[in-house]
Amino acid sequence: MGETGILSREVYENCDGEEEAVFYEDVDLLQKHGINVADIKKLKAAGICTVKGLQMTTRKKLCAIKGLTDQKVDKLKEACTKVTEVGFMSALEVCDKRKCVFRIGTGSSELDQLMGGGIESMAITEVFGEFRTGKTQLSHTLCITAQIPTESYSGGKVVFLDTENTFRPNRLTAIAERFNLDQTAVLENVLYARCYTSDHQCELLDLVAAKFQEEGGIYKLLIVDSVMALFRVDYSGRGELAERQQKLAQFMSRIQKISEEYNVAVFITNQMTSDPGAALSFQADPKKPIGGNIIAHASTTRISLRKGRGEVRIAKIYDSPDMPESEASFAISEGGIIDAKD
Ligand SMILES: Nc1ncnc2c1ncn2[C@@H]1O[C@H](COP(=O)(O)OP(=O)(O)OP(=O)(O)O)[C@@H](O)[C@H]1O
Ligand SMILES: [Mg+2]
Repeated sequence: MGETGILSREVYENCDGEEEAVFYEDVDLLQKHGINVADIKKLKAAGICTVKGLQMTTRKKLCAIKGLTDQKVDKLKEACTKVTEVGFMSALEVCDKRKCVFRIGTGSSELDQLMGGGIESMAITEVFGEFRTGKTQLSHTLCITAQIPTESYSGGKVVFLDTENTFRPNRLTAIAERFNLDQTAVLENVLYARCYTSDHQCELLDLVAAKFQEEGGIYKLLIVDSVMALFRVDYSGRGELAERQQKLAQFMSRIQKISEEYNVAVFITNQMTSDPGAALSFQADPKKPIGGNIIAHASTTRISLRKGRGEVRIAKIYDSPDMPESEASFAISEGGIIDAKD
């Protein structure tokens, strides 16, 4: 298998600390089932690099790829079913699959606890809050903590998509120093892209998928800081809202799939709106994250951040599939996110 280069090997560490090899299938494998190299190339160019990724792509989207006809898409879908089984699995199998899920620490043990151990893989974690609440600082800290192996996690590389031009390598080196890590090595392990438009932000995901595929199992975290900034600028007013939400839905759906396909954690930051109408209608929570239902439904865990005294910030679970609504405080320091001193 290894020598043909067709299967990418990914070593996951089990929760028990036991090492287990898991394979995911490269789209090249479809050659064995009558798909020609040119068509596989087209898939890859569209960011579809694994058989699972292909299964996750709708027929409509496949047909929109230049050079793929209806018939070819039929053939692709058929070849897919020959490579992997699709459909049901037992809850026990789900449980087995979830053993591959890992968590990345945030630098603050209290914040980790709030999230059940840290940022989870195969899921999207969203933090939102007003300016200066530490979203970008948390993003920077995760770039470093993602590289640190623990008993149940092997450590790995990070992709950082920056839409606000607030990424600062010197923050990474300062945080690396706190953890006694080699500063050059730490910087080398973070792949950075500055996004200029929402279209660019979406297109970059093709490259992200290609990178995750190329270095299978090496990347552990994808950060988007922030997810809405460009969508907010590129689409304005009610008239463009529907179009914006549709584009946004595609982006969110894509990062969700990437998180499952490559077993990586996805961390996104989001801005807030101060809804003037809400205050008048006596809503308990007049300030809401932006992006509406699309972001709400795609994010697995949503955390709100607010300012406390000085460098202290308070995080609250806003929505989670398995964690109660509680709060934790942390602080922002030169060495990144830390526990708040009480
Ligand atoms: N080196 C540092 N040491 C300590 N605190 C810092 C350091 N750098 C930044 N901060 C603090 O971090 C806070 C800014 O946090 P951050 O940039 O993460 O906010 P944000 O939530 O991303 O805001 P925005 O919505 O504007 O992007 C400021 O209060 C700043 O004082
Ligand atoms: Mg920021």
